[in-house]
Order: sequence, then C-alpha cells, then structure tokens
Amino acid sequence: MSHLLEERPTAPATDATWWRQAVVYQVYPRSFADSDGDGIGDLPGITAHVPHLRRLGVDAVWLSPFYPSALADGGYDVDDHRAVDPRIGTLAQFDDLVTALHAAGIRLVVDIVPNHSSDRHRWFQAALAAGPGSPERERYVFRRGLGADGERPPSDWTSVFGGPAWEPVGDGDWYLHLFAPEQPDWNWDHPDVRADHLETLRFWADRGVDGFRIDVANALTKHLTATLPSAEELRAADLPDGAHPYFDRDEVHEVYAAWREVFDSYDPPRTAVAEAWVPAHRRARYASPLGLGQAFNFDLLLARFDAATYRTVVEENLRFARDAESSSTWVLSNHDVVRHASRFALPPGTDEKAWLLSDGHDPEPDVAGGLRRARAATAFVLALPGSAYLYQGEELGLPEVSDLPRADLQDPTWLRSGGTEKGRDGCRVPLPWSADGPSHGFGPGGSHLPQPSWFADVAADRQDGIPGSTLEFYRTALAVRRRLQTVEELSWVEGTPEGAVQFTRPGGWTCLTNFGPDPVPLPAGRVVLCSGELGSDLVPADTTVWLEDEPGRPSA
Ligand code: NOJ
Repeated sequence: MSHLLEERPTAPATDATWWRQAVVYQVYPRSFADSDGDGIGDLPGITAHVPHLRRLGVDAVWLSPFYPSALADGGYDVDDHRAVDPRIGTLAQFDDLVTALHAAGIRLVVDIVPNHSSDRHRWFQAALAAGPGSPERERYVFRRGLGADGERPPSDWTSVFGGPAWEPVGDGDWYLHLFAPEQPDWNWDHPDVRADHLETLRFWADRGVDGFRIDVANALTKHLTATLPSAEELRAADLPDGAHPYFDRDEVHEVYAAWREVFDSYDPPRTAVAEAWVPAHRRARYASPLGLGQAFNFDLLLARFDAATYRTVVEENLRFARDAESSSTWVLSNHDVVRHASRFALPPGTDEKAWLLSDGHDPEPDVAGGLRRARAATAFVLALPGSAYLYQGEELGLPEVSDLPRADLQDPTWLRSGGTEKGRDGCRVPLPWSADGPSHGFGPGGSHLPQPSWFADVAADRQDGIPGSTLEFYRTALAVRRRLQTVEELSWVEGTPEGAVQFTRPGGWTCLTNFGPDPVPLPAGRVVLCSGELGSDLVPADTTVWLEDEPGRPSA
C-alpha cells in the first residue's frame, strides 16, 4: 500500500465533530493542583495549569466531580449538581476556568452523576424527614423491609463497593444504594428526577461546557418487581439482555433520547460519553447519535500487553463504533484503576488487589519495564482512529502509589470490604509538579493523600525540556498526532514478525508496536515518534514507533 504525502485525507474537526478523534485529558480536581494551600486541589489550581495542558496538546479536559460533597466516594456523592464545592472554588472561578480553557483552544467536559445523589442532597433529606409512603420518598428507591416490622432488607443484593445494597432508615423503610450508603439511588420513574437532570445539563451547557461524561450510564432506570430476585439469580450467566433489574435496562435509552434533545438544542451540539460497563454488543445503544453519542471502551484496562490481544480489541471496537455511528474511545488509565505504568510492571495475570494489599511488594514490580510498556501502549493508542482519554499524571509516567498507609485511605472500598481491598487512592495522589516544595508543587500547603518521596524524581519540572522524558514524549506524540490525524480508518499490515503489530492510517502514517521480546526490523519511512530507544534499523522490545511516508517513496 502506498500513500503520497499530498494525498493525506484530512479529517478537519468541526465544532460539531471535535470529539470524534479528540485527546481528552481527565482532571481529578481534588488531586490536580491546589492554589490555596488547604491540601485539596481546586479550580484556580487547574486554571493556573492551563498552559501545561495547552503545551501538552490536549483537545479537551474532562473534570471529575467538583460539586459539593462529603467525599464519601471521592465526589461521586453529589450534594448539589448545580454548584461548586466551596473547598474547590466558586461558580465565578468555574467560569474563569472555562474562559481560560477556551482561550487556549481546549474544550471542557464535566462529569454528570445521574444514578445517585448524596445522602446530604436536599431531596434525600426531605425524603427522610417526610417518612414512609410520602411523595418525597418516591424520588428515591425506598422499599419496605421484609418481616413484620420491616426489619430485614428487601433483598440480599450487594453494593458495588461491598456490603448490602439496602440501608434501613429506622422506620421499616430501606433505600437502595448500588454504591456507598451515602449514595442513594434516584428513582428514574419520577418526573422530578428527569426534569431536574435536564435542568442540570442546561445549567452547565449554558455556562459554556462543551460536553458531559455520564457516570454509571448503564444504571439509572430500574425494574423492581414485588418479589425481588436474589443476588445469585442476578449473577446467572444466562440472564437475557435487558432483564437485569438495575443494570443496562432498555428504558434507560429513553432518558438519553431526552438528553439528546437538550444537547442538540445548543450550537454546537453538546457531546456526551457514557461510562457503561456493559457487554460489548450492548455498548452501541449508549454510543448512538440518538443517545449519548459516544461510550467508553474499557477493554484495554483489562487487556494483557500482547500483540494478538491488542489487535483483537482494536478490531472489535472499531466495528462496534462503526455500528453505533460513533467513534471509538481508548482508555489506558483513569481514576478507578491501577495506573497503566504499574499494571504493565506486573507479570501478566497478577491479582492487582492482592498486589496493592502487599503495598506493592508481592510481586515486586518491574518499574522500568512497566514504564517502557506504558509508553509503547500509549503511542499505539494515540495512533488509532477515535478519541483517546488520558488520565492526569500519565504524561509524567506516574506509577501507582501502592504503599499508601492504611490510615490515610479514603476510598469507601477500603472500609466496605472490611480491609480486604485497598481501593483506588493510589492513582489519586496529588500530582508532583516540582521536585521541591511542601507538596511537590501541588500547592503551597500539604496534600490530602501523602505523596511518596520518589515523586521528586518524576516531577513535571524534572522532565520539562529533557529529551526522552515521558513528559516530552507525550508532548511530541500529541503534536505529531495532531499533524498526521486523518479520517477514521486503519489498515493492518500483515506479515509482521511475531509479537509485532503494524497498521497504517490514510495519508502515510504507520504505527508499529513490538510487544514481543525480540527486536523487529524498522519499517520504511521517516521515524516521527518512538516510545523508547530505537536501534539503527531495529525496533526493540516493548516499543512503538510511528513513521511517515517519505515523499515519493512507497510506505510499508
Ligand atoms: C464510576 C466512577 O468512575 C467511580 O469513581 C464512582 O465511584 C462510581 N461510578 C460511583 O459513582
């Protein structure tokens, strides 16, 4: 196959299609940058680092929740969806952030958490006060307990964080919380709930927000029969699609059809991406242009670093995205999983939860190898058609902080699991911006989760301008991607040596990743990016290289 440079089919991102192949950078606000020294990241802290994001070359920022919250689940327990947590800032500071991002050419996506509120939400407090049978309780999923006085839970369901999914309120009623007890589930059959969320979407869209990331998009609507199925019945492998009482019900798409009307009432239309842990064949409905428009594909969070696995994941997901009339998404890290530099430092098949419980010592990670593979995987993903979601700190090559003292853990998983799962705090440790300073440049004070001393070695200021550093590698990768970006197509190059995967994008952009242990020959073309050290004509193990056709010369 051969492409001449001048033939490169460009895929100009318009105001309406910017998201299709965007690089979206996730900011976890409490851990990004702290302007006032209280140890908690805030909106002015993010605004102050817009130059970093611009230099990095991202197209959009996705802000995890910054709403008022008791932090029972890192902010995903929302007290008021149309306000800013005073510890994080003010609405005026939010507007400043929007202005600064837009001035830098960066769009903004905010997190919407529609399955549950916090137990401090005014409507939940009203429901508690109003008592059984009241209209106030109908906005949530309250149900009479079993037994003469309602003393037993309505079912034996367990929450995602462990422990029972029903909480008693002391008057015979119990409420459903698929996550922590501080996160009561909304009743999506209630018109108030539907209307209130539409108002929330408009509230942020009116403030200039460009898109939304939808938390647990596959929950929301529920079908609770008079007799509830048992937890074991729900686990049955042969449960037909859409038959689960609270996950992935078909009715949820009616909710998103109504949201789509709101999105499309703006110019340009607002975008959305669904966090929906559903079987791959059910993902298209969430990604449909009649619904949210795009859905996360988390396959690479679970995939082994292996040529055949990566190729299969890409083939399947490009097909799913096409079927949904959407673009594919690629995710290697986020605030819920062990950072990919650490995942790839562990032998395949390692139980990551057990590894965290060993404080990161059993097994000992291959730190250098993990970073090498993480960079190779990142470059592979960034060459694919579709949008790439990056997680704050991965541009520094940050590994997981696996030895956080137990006394400092904040994730509800830790307590709810009875100390058998350390949870997700290790990827949420405040970022090291500088080698020195009270919290490595995170802010003028401390940091709400303790930073390890080795953060000094990986701090942004230690990597800035240093050729070969992970930060410079990301900057180059994003700049080259922007220049070579083309239509959403890919062609596999067959016959590559075992362990290597190679594909081309229209217009003369070739990507080769060597997942195997042995070096493989460097394809023809001009090298424009390499995730590691390149031999003169060999691509070493765990390395990705991008090449561009040289004018007048055929490509690989
Ligand atoms: C998914 C979010 O990513 C996670 O952080 C949160 O704990 C749950 N949804 C519950 O909101």
